[in-house]
Amino acid sequence: MTNPTPTGRSQADLIGRDDANDIEAILELTNTDMESTIRHVENHADTLFTWDYNKGARPRLNKLYEKAKHSMWDGEKDLEWDTDVDLDKMVEHMQMVTYIQNQSLFAFAEQPGSPLRHFGDKEWHELGRESLIWQMSQFLHGEQGALVATAKIVETVPWIDAKYYASTQVMDEARHVEVFSKYLDTKLQDAYPINVHLQELLDDVIRDSRWDMTYLGMQIMIEGLALAAFSFLHQITDEPLLKKLLRYVMSDEARHVAFGVLSLQEYYQELTLAEIQERQEFAFEAAVRMRDRFLRQEVWHRMGIDDVRPIIRCLLEAPDEEKEFQRLLFSKIVPNCRKLGLLDAGEGWLRTKFTEIGVIEFEHMESTDDEYGAFDLASA
Ligand SMILES: [Fe+2]
Ligand SMILES: [Fe+2]
Repeated sequence: MTNPTPTGRSQADLIGRDDANDIEAILELTNTDMESTIRHVENHADTLFTWDYNKGARPRLNKLYEKAKHSMWDGEKDLEWDTDVDLDKMVEHMQMVTYIQNQSLFAFAEQPGSPLRHFGDKEWHELGRESLIWQMSQFLHGEQGALVATAKIVETVPWIDAKYYASTQVMDEARHVEVFSKYLDTKLQDAYPINVHLQELLDDVIRDSRWDMTYLGMQIMIEGLALAAFSFLHQITDEPLLKKLLRYVMSDEARHVAFGVLSLQEYYQELTLAEIQERQEFAFEAAVRMRDRFLRQEVWHRMGIDDVRPIIRCLLEAPDEEKEFQRLLFSKIVPNCRKLGLLDAGEGWLRTKFTEIGVIEFEHMESTDDEYGAFDLASA
């Protein structure tokens, strides 16, 4: 038996995909335990106690903690669950299809022999409907990932101010799981299982023995993407219950991402260049997994398309300017990686990679540790 790496995987299991756009490698991963209610993931990290109870030794974390204690909303009381939700109207208003497709795909649908050849208005609408249910389902599963990952941070981080703050985040995430679950259950009345690429990413975050990797995978990458996705959905929907739900969740998520930036900024000062390079690779792997997730292979299957390869190829190969929505999802991640020094370390490896996937343009947007106050409910 080979020794596990700090990731908890043997070296041979590491992603090691030379070509991030290798379609066979993307589709090779499928969700094999759809029937199971429980998933076991081994956690290789040590649990740390600290006897240094000096509260406020890290003033910015302490400030976040104090803020969090007074920012707890109650999904049962503060949201109007008796609102009638009409999914079809919602999908039409959001023009969901425009955001999830691109011109290349519409052109592809017109080609002879295309698996989308039979698509008319009804099918495109259906695709928008399924995509919204799928999206909300992945938000739900991601929220549970955040709940579990942040509980792990409470155990593994050595600083008392971070343990305090993370404990408030655990409570936030419980509320997020609760409200997304209730919305899917009572308003959309449908759901998708977790996407396999998201599951792989959550597994990586939980397995890893290094406490800071939980932050990088969850607070910076997954929550950074979630914050951008929630903001976008919040902007385009007119469904009042969802709009308010997202606004409440966003006010918490901005704090969570800021928590990641503040903690890692300090810790990365201590790391060697080789260790920073491992963080760059982890961040890029996470980015690729999140990109793969948005190819939504299970939605295409549900639409009755067996061979999704040509569709995935079309989505991947579309020119950057057609991938507006997909690129927007990185608008919080890239500036935060820059703030952490991850873009330019090691001769700019991550900068090159982010340039290749067409998201580097966001690097100079405001980082979340500076802007989280703007997401407060008070400023809504
Ligand atoms: Fe959350
Ligand atoms: Fe969060």
